[in-house]
Formats: sequence, structure tokens, C-alpha cells
Amino acid sequence: MSEKTANLAVNGKTMNLAVLDGTMGPSVIDVTPLYKESGHFTYDPGFTSTASCQSKITFIDGDKGVLLYRGYPIEELAEQGDFIETCYLLLNGELPNRAQKQEFSSIIKMHTMLHEQFSRFFHGFHRNSHPMSIMVASLGAMSAFYHDSLDITDDRQRDIASFRLISKIPTMAAMAYKYHIGEPFIYPDNNLGYVENFLKMCFAVPCEEYKVNPVFAHALDTIFTLHADHEQNASTSTVRLAGSSGANPFACIAAGVACLWGPAHGGANEACLKMLEQIGTKDHIPEYIARAKDHNDPFRLMGFGHRVYKNYDPRARIMQNICKSVLAELGVHHDPLFEVAMELEQIALTDEYFIEKKLYPNVDFYSGIVLKALGFPTSMFTVLFALARSVGWIAQWKEMIEDPQQKIGRPRQLYTGHTKRSYVLMDKRSRAIS
Ligand code: CMC
Repeated sequence: MSEKTANLAVNGKTMNLAVLDGTMGPSVIDVTPLYKESGHFTYDPGFTSTASCQSKITFIDGDKGVLLYRGYPIEELAEQGDFIETCYLLLNGELPNRAQKQEFSSIIKMHTMLHEQFSRFFHGFHRNSHPMSIMVASLGAMSAFYHDSLDITDDRQRDIASFRLISKIPTMAAMAYKYHIGEPFIYPDNNLGYVENFLKMCFAVPCEEYKVNPVFAHALDTIFTLHADHEQNASTSTVRLAGSSGANPFACIAAGVACLWGPAHGGANEACLKMLEQIGTKDHIPEYIARAKDHNDPFRLMGFGHRVYKNYDPRARIMQNICKSVLAELGVHHDPLFEVAMELEQIALTDEYFIEKKLYPNVDFYSGIVLKALGFPTSMFTVLFALARSVGWIAQWKEMIEDPQQKIGRPRQLYTGHTKRSYVLMDKRSRAIS
């Protein structure tokens, strides 16, 4: 029992609720006994004040703009580490030493191929299918192809499922892309690093030699690191909730991918680039700023605002620098989209509406410009986010399954519908049911 308590008076009865401290961040009031002792639920639509679990993986201080993976600042991981190390760190809790990194890297390389029959699965889709819809389906299909690693109570099988996910998702994402554009699938090349192999599977064609540009590979590796995990966001919570029923891990990841696709979440990178293209030139910015501030207009500045960050998203700052390095490598000195984005950011950061509501650029604000410069079409942007986030999802899923206190997630509700009433026979029903 915690020493600190919070008193809650309900209908004249005072309850002492335990206050639990984490290592950082706000403490939580443990409301688990509330229903039993008072007959009341808590009400928190959108979970703005609810901690849904305990976790040791990622920490965010939204007011200060801090993001830590297992205690390490995102800036240091992005500058000094790489994505493979980040995967190891998220899964195991510590950075790997040289031998551990080599071993982990070889394991990830060993699993890059997809079952050959998987390629036929892609052919069932219409060529116009959005690659995210193919991703949702093919992640779900992994449970059909790799059912020898689905006993979630077995530590070894959980590890194998994690390795398979991290290894195969780039192959799957590249296949979704190749299918979408009507080019032949390119098999993985295990002589290459994780990101280099992915770029080759996306951009090589069988009739020509393909050389990976190291600046592009480094940029994409950093983008993957920035997106690897982000605490209990909507898609991660979806993965945890799906997993809490004991569902197989690949099906849970498919649920996470579906959730990520929405424009309020990972789909914002695609929506943001479309918005920048729509704005087109700097002189149109005031019109869009005015629309974003107008409550009668559903338009929002995509890539702006965050549920947790009430300060500059640290990932956006790094993304802005990646943007500059990729454009410089391409010899682009004046990219109209980048210029619109920088100007938009400046105007928004000095505008009273955005200051008052603490709306800052988020990770998606600059990512679309970089991904476009790397050669990806907008329809692939959220797929790349899903690829990188899959490690965070599986690390969070493992943490949940390994938690002895884990239970099926089952929120309750405030019911506001009809009270009990009797069935009405057809000829007695006076109005049409809308
Ligand atoms: N443009 C204009 N106004 C905004 C924006 C925006 N992008 N975001 C929030 N607001 C306003 C909103 O209208 C509301 O105003 P009021 O209090 O007067 O009603 C206030 O700010 C608070 O907004 P909210 O919707 O209650 O905040 P939320 O925490 O529920 O939403 C958000 C967070 C990210 C969904 C939202 O800021 C948004 O829609 N942003 C644009 C989409 C986007 O960039 N999403 C990517 C998020 S980062 C990557 C990821 O996590 O996937």
C-alpha cells in the first residue's frame, strides 16, 4: 500500500485511494477499488487523465518536449545510435554491446523472407488499393503463415514472433508498394543493413543495378528511430487491448496498423503533405491559418498539435534537420513545400491562437517532405510509420503479456440510451426508425 492517498467522497462516503508514484512523470490515483466500494465508474473519454498500464519502455514529458526510450533521450539515440540498436533497446531494456548487436542483427536478417505463398496473397488486391489496407490485411495474414510461434505463454515463441515481425515488415511494406505501382517484387538482400535492404526492395528493379545512397539510408534509419515507440498512444493502446484477450500477436499488430492509419494519428503525415501541396505558395498561408482557427471549419493544420506535447515535439526538430540534409544531398536549394512548411511554422508559432492552445509542429509536420524527397509516394508515408512503430507495438505487447497483473482490458461506460421498454409489434410502430 502506497503511503500517499487521495480522498474521494462519494455520496457521503470517503474513500482513501492509493497514490502510486512512477520513476518520473505524474503520479496516479489507483481507482481499481472504486466500483466495488462506491458503485461508481470513472469517466474519461479519450483517456485524457487515465494511465491504462504501468510501463518501463517510453517516457514523455509533454510540457518540456522530452521523449526517452528506456531512459535514453531521443536526440542521443537519433544522433549516435541506429534503428537496430533501438529495436534491441525497446525489446530488452538495455543497449546491446557489440556482440549482442551483431547477434541481434543476424537474427533479424535471418527472417527477412516471406513465405513464397504470401506473394499470391498480394495479388488478391486491386492494384489501386491503398498500401495501408494491404498492410492491415497482410499483418493479419502473418498469423496464418507463421502459426508455429503463436503460443503467447512461451517466452521463446514470443521472442520469435517479435523477430519475425521486425524482420518481415519491411519486406511486406516493400511488396505492398511494388504491387501498388505494378512492379515486380524484389527479394530481400541479407548482405545489406535493415534500412538499405528496405530501400532496395522498394526502389530496385530486376533489370538495373541499384546502389543505396548512404545519406538517404541514414535519413530513413533516423526516421525509423524517431517513430519506434511513443508510449500509450492510440495504436499502441489498441495493440495492448487486442492482446489483452490473448489474441495472437500478428493479429494484434494488424489492429494497431488499422488504428495508426487515421489522419489524427499516423495518417497525419500523408494528410500534412497533401495540405502543404494544397497551400502551394507562401501567400496562401494566411488563408489556411484563418481556416484552422475558424471553429465552423473542420480544417486543422495537419502536423500541428499533440495530445501529450504542449511544447515543440522533439522528433519534429530532428525531422527538420533530416529534411535539410536530404534536400542538400539532392541538390535542392529551394524546395517549395519545405519553404511553405518553414513559413507556416513561423507564422503559427507567433500566432495567438496557436500559442494559447500550445499547438506546435509534431513529428508528421516535416516527415512527408523528407519521404517524398526520398522517392516515396504519399500513400506509403503511413506504411513507413507502421514499419518503424511495429517494434514499439511488439515491445509493449510483450511487456503486457509478461506482466503478472495483466487482465483483459474491459472499459465500462456511462449509459445514456433508453431505459428498459417492451417490444413493439410491427403494426403498432408509428414512426420510422432513423
Ligand atoms: N489545427 C488547429 N487547431 C487545432 C489543431 C490543429 N492541428 N489541433 C488542435 N487544435 C485545437 C482544437 O480545435 C481545440 O480547440 P478548442 O479548445 O477551441 O476546441 C484545441 O486545439 C485542442 O484540440 P483537441 O482536438 O481537443 O486536442 P487533442 O489532444 O484531442 O488532439 C490531435 C490532438 C493531434 C489529434 C490534434 O492536435 C490534431 O488533430 N492535429 C492534427 C493531426 C495531426 O497532426 N496528428 C498527428 C499527431 S502526432 C503523430 C501521432 O501521434 O500519430
